[in-house]
Amino acid sequence: MTAPTTSPGALLTLQDVTIAFRTSRGEVPVTRKVSFSIGRGERVGLVGESGCGKTVTGLSIMRLLPMEVARIHGRIDFEGQDLATLPERQMRAVRGKDIAMIFQEPMSALDPVFTVGTQIAEAWLAHQKNGSASEARERAIKALAQVGIPLPERRFDEYPHQLSGGMRQRVMIAMAIICEPKLLIADEPTTALDVTVQAQIMDLLRDLSERTGTAMLFITHDLGVVAETCTRMLTMYAGEVVEDAPVDNALMRPRHPYTSGLLRSLPRLAERHARLSSIPGRVPSPTGMPAGCRYRERCEFAEAACTAEQILRPVAMAGELPRQARCVRADELELRGAVS
Ligand SMILES: Nc1ncnc2c1ncn2[C@@H]1O[C@H](COP(=O)(O)OP(=O)(O)OP(=O)(O)O)[C@@H](O)[C@H]1O
Ligand SMILES: [Mg+2]
Repeated sequence: MTAPTTSPGALLTLQDVTIAFRTSRGEVPVTRKVSFSIGRGERVGLVGESGCGKTVTGLSIMRLLPMEVARIHGRIDFEGQDLATLPERQMRAVRGKDIAMIFQEPMSALDPVFTVGTQIAEAWLAHQKNGSASEARERAIKALAQVGIPLPERRFDEYPHQLSGGMRQRVMIAMAIICEPKLLIADEPTTALDVTVQAQIMDLLRDLSERTGTAMLFITHDLGVVAETCTRMLTMYAGEVVEDAPVDNALMRPRHPYTSGLLRSLPRLAERHARLSSIPGRVPSPTGMPAGCRYRERCEFAEAACTAEQILRPVAMAGELPRQARCVRADELELRGAVS
């Protein structure tokens, strides 16, 4: 068992969560023993290259994986309930109310034949026993205003195609926050938007979290987004969490060579004169995972000890907040951070 970094009063704790898909070749695990916690009101970034298991981890918390082929092993504790095994009927009461999710492409989640206002109101009504249509309308207009949509009464009656991409993403956020969820999962929420709009949406999400106390899990490739928005950062590699640290520590003094590699391949955070370098090699596929450290074949610091299984273990130095890394050399290596 690997110990998660438990935040005091944790809202969500994943404990040894392994997600596997049934395929013609049998059950294939795509994540392995993922453990982490999110505290109330905390904003956590989940980063890693494509295929590392970020989306499936987010979907497992919402239990939105295709359950006919997916299996969730381990425990997903949310306020004392295990979401991995909660009956679907009870899960429906949690989904959208206590935990909400927004995705990269808002059009796929909005229905083109209903006005945006109706859809936001519906998201609220779905979780009320005796909600009236007039109160739902009022709340939807308030939510539209909260996400920075001008003239919300007028926008209420518009259809998704009448809005810009940025506005549609704001509508998605309004739908996600209308029930005042305790946790919002955002999976690449700005990738489809242009750069200025991206920054506005990220500012909006951070402000909402600060104002309402909603905890957020940001799934992203973009370490710049994490630097500006989050308090903690989880790095995933090949289905495993390899580093879990307060965001400043993770960015300035990474303890896992993979986190350091990601930082060096990022233009905005890399040192001004440092040369950009992408990490050589690629993420191994779920059916071809190497034994021992999964990163060792790409790691410039690999040594014989790396062929042994590594665990996520505490690596905080004196005076540092709790942090963990899955690297046998974590205490000894001087790794480059964003500014070093
Ligand atoms: N329905 C599925 N059936 C089988 N394998 C799947 C399924 N969904 C995802 N996977 C596999 O799970 C692994 C993790 O995928 P995931 O989408 O979580 O990666 P990601 O980190 O979100 O990547 P990206 O940054 O590209 O979004 C990948 O190897 C992917 O092929
Ligand atoms: Mg993804």
